[in-house]
Amino acid sequence: MLVYKTKVNLIKRINNIMQPSFSLGFVPTMGALHKGHLSLVKSALANNNFVVVSIFVNPTQFDNSSDLNKYPRSLAKDIKILETISKDNILIYAPKVEDLYGSKVKSENFNFSGLELSMEGNSRPGHFDGVGTIVKRLLQIVSPNKAYFGEKDFQQLLIIRKMVDSEGLSVNIIGCPTEREPNGLAMSSRNGRLSSKEYREAAMIYEILQTVKHKFSSEDIPSTYDWVLKRFNNNSLFELDYFQILDTESLGPVKEKKPNKKYRAFIAAYIGDVRLIDNIDLN
Ligand code: PAF
Repeated sequence: MLVYKTKVNLIKRINNIMQPSFSLGFVPTMGALHKGHLSLVKSALANNNFVVVSIFVNPTQFDNSSDLNKYPRSLAKDIKILETISKDNILIYAPKVEDLYGSKVKSENFNFSGLELSMEGNSRPGHFDGVGTIVKRLLQIVSPNKAYFGEKDFQQLLIIRKMVDSEGLSVNIIGCPTEREPNGLAMSSRNGRLSSKEYREAAMIYEILQTVKHKFSSEDIPSTYDWVLKRFNNNSLFELDYFQILDTESLGPVKEKKPNKKYRAFIAAYIGDVRLIDNIDLN
């Protein structure tokens, strides 16, 4: 399988293979591919003639240099995994930082209409400007018809939709359901850094979210918050970063439930120095 290291060569290849009636799918990743990524690639292959998968650990979305340095990198393994899905219809774009940023490794500033203020945006300053910058550049290079993102990063999905809309990019953004480990833990490249005990305990995050969904229909919101905080306080392995019940569209806070609104619960928690996130639809 050919791996394109530069945007010039990738664009040349795309122009060669694409015909006017063809559809091009795009799955942006930071590598260390797991089943969650593969399900995005499979959905993309099922609905497009060709699929570009980018593998690039984007420096501008890390607020913390140690997190950036520790981020797993396994290009050779990632290529092998993608080859098992399709040798002919996947194009891998794995550039160096200069190909995407030139000599200025800096984010653009975006207006995400407040979607960036809570959760990951609050805990990781500058994170979403970094994500917006790289996704915009990648979409401009690849020019796909459809781009695929996982719902595990639900806030990211909404922010990308917003960016695509305000930048007038012509691409259909497809959100795909979260893939889970057998114990319910959301698939993530960071799971590989958990010890076997931590991996077992990490199942608690999704168990809590499922109970929150159940409680949401019968209990008031403050008592659900209390219950979640207690569950985390009682387990010394975890440090809770946030638990939030938010409006699914605006990501604004929810004081009381309204029948015509949609809600979602979100958790970010550390086990040791591994930060895990997950969310669940409450309707
Ligand atoms: O979700 C990710 O892996 C990254 O944020 C993305 C979308 C590939 C941008 O670097």
